[in-house]
Amino acid sequence: MASRISSLLMCILYIYSFSAFLCLHAHEARETAENYHLHHYHTVQVSSLIPSTTCNTSSKGPKREASLTVIHKYGPCFQSNKDQLLVLNHTEFLLQDQSRVNSIHSKFSKNSDGNKLRESQATTLPAKSGGTIGTGNYIVTVGLGTPKTNQTLAFDTGSDLTWAQCKPCAKQCYQQVDPIFDPSKSTSYTNISCPTPLCSQLTSATGSPRQCSSNSKCIYVVRYGDRSFTIGYFSTERLTITSDVVDNFIFGCGQDNEGLFKGFAGLLGLGRGQVSLVQQAAQKYKKFFSYCLPSTISSMGYLTLGKGREVSNSSKFTPLLTLSQGPSFYGLNLSGISVGGQRLSIPTSVFSTAGTIIDSGTVITRLPPTAYNALRTSFREKMRNYPMTSSSSSLFDTCYDLSKNQSVSIPSISFFFGGGVSVDLNKVGILYILSQTEACLAFAGNSNPSNIAIFGNEQQKGLEVVYDVVGGKIGFRPGGCS
Ligand SMILES: *[C@@H]1O[C@H](CO)[C@@H](O)[C@H](O)[C@H]1NC(C)=O
Ligand SMILES: *[C@@H]1O[C@H](CO)[C@@H](O)[C@H](O)[C@H]1NC(C)=O
Ligand SMILES: *[C@@H]1O[C@H](CO)[C@@H](O)[C@H](O)[C@H]1NC(C)=O
Ligand SMILES: *[C@@H]1O[C@H](CO)[C@@H](O)[C@H](O)[C@H]1NC(C)=O
Ligand SMILES: *[C@@H]1O[C@H](CO)[C@@H](O)[C@H](O)[C@H]1NC(C)=O
Ligand SMILES: *[C@@H]1O[C@H](CO)[C@@H](O)[C@H](O)[C@H]1NC(C)=O
Ligand SMILES: *[C@@H]1O[C@H](CO)[C@@H](O)[C@H](O)[C@H]1NC(C)=O
Repeated sequence: MASRISSLLMCILYIYSFSAFLCLHAHEARETAENYHLHHYHTVQVSSLIPSTTCNTSSKGPKREASLTVIHKYGPCFQSNKDQLLVLNHTEFLLQDQSRVNSIHSKFSKNSDGNKLRESQATTLPAKSGGTIGTGNYIVTVGLGTPKTNQTLAFDTGSDLTWAQCKPCAKQCYQQVDPIFDPSKSTSYTNISCPTPLCSQLTSATGSPRQCSSNSKCIYVVRYGDRSFTIGYFSTERLTITSDVVDNFIFGCGQDNEGLFKGFAGLLGLGRGQVSLVQQAAQKYKKFFSYCLPSTISSMGYLTLGKGREVSNSSKFTPLLTLSQGPSFYGLNLSGISVGGQRLSIPTSVFSTAGTIIDSGTVITRLPPTAYNALRTSFREKMRNYPMTSSSSSLFDTCYDLSKNQSVSIPSISFFFGGGVSVDLNKVGILYILSQTEACLAFAGNSNPSNIAIFGNEQQKGLEVVYDVVGGKIGFRPGGCS
């Protein structure tokens, strides 16, 4: 502002001279530079980057039909987390994120003949998903059983099977905040028996190795990349989403649940595979859902099943792709990145070789190494006025100590997707705050150029993401949580 006024003053002084024309020209150029900065940088107070410890209850987006409140499992909005059952340890959190990514990568490389992308309209046979991965860190509360009981589940677009811990916890249940689901108290619970065609179909769809228990019950087994697992009975039950009822919903009634789970009751599978909620409730919701992940750990977002009443017309849609090695995942055609309004020169083959998925459970976006390096170089250049610091996490290599700065101008980052869609990431998805003195570029490079790229949840924050499976497209809308 000051420089703008002084350049105007200079112009007035020069106005009687023959260089008036040149002067006005220079003023114009400066104003354009300021405008440029305004549009391509986010200026934020450094103090606002530190998450609040109280829940902002007024932060939930517009109330819609079948809309569940989404909160972060480590945030203060998880009401029942009063006794500090869940404490966020960034080191552990990011290591778990890497386990999830490793397991996604190994899944894709298993039967790799190059990551061939296909339009989703093409018919895909339900293939073995070979178990699911990771657990996700955004949670919603659904009703299970009759009468319904509240169960807080992590929702995960990278998994198909929904499961919840179940009494009598024949082998082991971990600590959770809601009372553990007790099927003997529900009038709508049924076991799926074995051997039956349904049981064979289910076990093959989920990649479960076993099928029948000694008392002829259908068994599921899901192992996660971090060596967590859940084993139990395939069952059907009434699922209630706000006031919507999904009867005979197939889920896993977990009798042995071990590993890194803690606090929440289980998982809500929103993948594309046969047993996912999206497929099971296809008649009701037309394979359409949307969510907005809250922009801070202390605010709330939403997950809406079906179109609801108000679908925004301002979403930008890009084709949804199907990846032959990972048919449960939602594929995107990432084709470019810009930093501070400048498109990085990355050959499109870098993206097409790797392929890209969007995943609600992966935290940090993973890019092909060449793309990440270009992003890092440009970001560092535009942040050169801030002191860099070493990183306490091996995942990050571009961190700043902003503790001495009151405000920070962060270059904006946009992703380009197929269909000519550009998505400006929310300012909260650019830096990951490890501590007061450590703000890191919240992206990471894959170690192998052929590993799939993942659009993670840190970068989805504050965007409404719309999944229209039947329409074969995915939409993004900035300012989505409000
Ligand atoms: C709470 O959320 C609302 C809506 O997103 C926002 O306008 C407000 O500034 C937030 N309050 C605090 C204290 O962060
Ligand atoms: C966080 O987790 C790491 C890795 O498990 C552990 O070494 C460290 O002691 C933990 N930090 C705290 C403060 O608990
Ligand atoms: C269940 O959850 C809903 C929505 O979060 C809440 O309104 C209701 O009070 C809860 N019921 C019980 C018994 O906790
Ligand atoms: C389901 O199977 C379990 C284990 O065999 C049994 O204890 C329970 O009574 C069965 N529930 C119903 C409703 O059949
Ligand atoms: C979106 O809907 C609003 C309200 O219905 C309308 O005013 C606006 O013109 C629409 N925008 C587009 C791009 O269709
Ligand atoms: C941020 O603070 C550091 C340390 O005081 C200082 O060297 C640097 O110039 C500041 N950057 C900006 C852009 O103000
Ligand atoms: C991805 O987008 C690029 C550029 O828009 C296009 O050339 C390419 O054919 C698309 N790939 C797929 C698999 O749709």
